[in-house]
Amino acid sequence: MKFFIDTANLAQIREAAELGVLDGVTTNPSLMAKEGIRGREAIDQHYKTICEIVDGDISAEVLSINKDEIIEEGKKLAAIHPNIVVKVPMVKDGIKAIRWFTDNGIRTNCTLIFSAGQAILAAKAGASYVSPFIGRIDDTGWDGMELIGQISNIFSIQGYKTEILAASIRTSNHIVRAAELGADVCTCPLESILGLLKHPLTDLGLAKFLEDAKKM
Ligand code: E4P
Repeated sequence: MKFFIDTANLAQIREAAELGVLDGVTTNPSLMAKEGIRGREAIDQHYKTICEIVDGDISAEVLSINKDEIIEEGKKLAAIHPNIVVKVPMVKDGIKAIRWFTDNGIRTNCTLIFSAGQAILAAKAGASYVSPFIGRIDDTGWDGMELIGQISNIFSIQGYKTEILAASIRTSNHIVRAAELGADVCTCPLESILGLLKHPLTDLGLAKFLEDAKKM
């Protein structure tokens, strides 16, 4: 399973990249706004900088919801760097635009996936990735991970090439479950990635080794 970081924060992207386990980055309008990135020029420059830090797929989301505008915006985003993947929302015009991008060699990530039916539609349109939002499903009282398992089964039965990108990750355990259930990629906040390091028995064991090392 590939690891992406889900942020537009450059310090966090650098920290994750330094771990040596980072395969890409996902952003969205909320994450970009959080970093104070405003205006076309600043947005494009921010994506360029991210592409310089991480040599992997970088999802850049379109702000339009109309087919022609999504296509125009997506073409410009894709021209920023070969690693840019155009992130398109799961709406009817989004599916039409994904089909156009597929036919024209531009890779896409279909975002805001909350059902297996939506994932099937995006895969049929040729999306490179589908992004089911685990945490947001959990927030409604349902089990987001069930959707990962369901999409994983369907894609394997149908032989779809679209990769399953588990998104809206809230915990380190989400990452483990996504791996178990066959997600191809997990996009995570830095703290969930770093959380994988932690176990109290590791801390206790290390403290004991360090103490005993003084007696060596
Ligand atoms: C994925 O690409 C989205 O940007 C992200 O995972 C959404 O996560 P959130 O539900 O924590 O906002």
